[in-house]
Amino acid sequence: MSAAITTSNLTKRFKTHVAVDSLNLDVPQGAIYGFLGPNGSGKSTTMKMLLGLTRPTEGEIRVFEQDLTPASRTRMLPSIGSMIEAPPGYGHLTGLENMRIVQDMLDLSAVQIEHALETVRLTEHKNKLVRNYSLGMKQRLGIAMALARDPALLILDEPTNGLDPAGIEEIRTLLIRLAGHGITVMVSSHLLDEIDRMASTLGILSAGRLVFQGTRAELMERSVPDILIVTPTPQAVLDPQTLAGLVPAQASGASGQPSGPALVPQGVRIPGMSKGAVAELISRLAAAGVELHEVRREAQSLEDVFMDLTGRGGGVL
Ligand SMILES: Nc1ncnc2c1ncn2[C@@H]1O[C@H](COP(=O)(O)OP(=O)(O)O)[C@@H](O)[C@H]1O
Ligand SMILES: [Mg+2]
Repeated sequence: MSAAITTSNLTKRFKTHVAVDSLNLDVPQGAIYGFLGPNGSGKSTTMKMLLGLTRPTEGEIRVFEQDLTPASRTRMLPSIGSMIEAPPGYGHLTGLENMRIVQDMLDLSAVQIEHALETVRLTEHKNKLVRNYSLGMKQRLGIAMALARDPALLILDEPTNGLDPAGIEEIRTLLIRLAGHGITVMVSSHLLDEIDRMASTLGILSAGRLVFQGTRAELMERSVPDILIVTPTPQAVLDPQTLAGLVPAQASGASGQPSGPALVPQGVRIPGMSKGAVAELISRLAAAGVELHEVRREAQSLEDVFMDLTGRGGGVL
């Protein structure tokens, strides 16, 4: 499949702070690419670089197989619609008046404007002042402004932020419909469940680094479910000699959050153990005469996997 966006080694430093660290993004054409990460992980900065609004410190960007450079930018941007950080739009103007500004700026037809308003279902509210719009309507107006130019690529930064479940569902339905018409959609969120069901590909950022890129199914496969050992004598399991060499020093790369064997009501829970390590642990426990009632894998939710990747203290929520 050809790519809508690829980046190589894309990096942004603010003084010494690395906000975006050597990203190799691959956004397939026609995809809904869910760009996930806690607040401050570098989503907006990345999207601004993709739009030529912020200059990369290092690295390359290709959009539809062409290099995005200061020289090519003017030619390429008309095919990209975007909404970054907050929905645009003047509160003292109506939805339609805001759209007219976009129309004039981009030299669009009245039909394009009407069609974009129709697509986001704002036609019946187009003559109301934007300051009286709900947040969901403002987000949809922002998307209409991005859509009016009939872009091949839509880059939307947290369009579901602050919306209630019905508002989120509306945006989700809209983006799925747009992707169905062949538009590539890159959409960011700090909340996994706002976008994982609509995204065909996920890219997950943690502290500026891409810690995962692939499908939802591939993300699930990456998870190693915790082992739950049900026993009346959990201390025997937690004995450092029993666990020696079997438990990773720090499970699954969680940033800053040590996650290791833990006491739970039924016994002990241990993350990140391979099959071989589990087999060895069981034989050690049996040899030591520890009473085992049950040893099982505890299913991990997608949310758990996301949290492990991005660090539980990462400001998600
Ligand atoms: N203009 C700027 N100057 C200095 N630091 C910035 C600037 N913009 C963003 N940052 C920092 O870069 C990091 C990533 O920010 P941002 O891209 O906004 O993250 P996100 O959109 O994922 O919340 C944060 O630590 C933020 O404070
Ligand atoms: Mg942001």
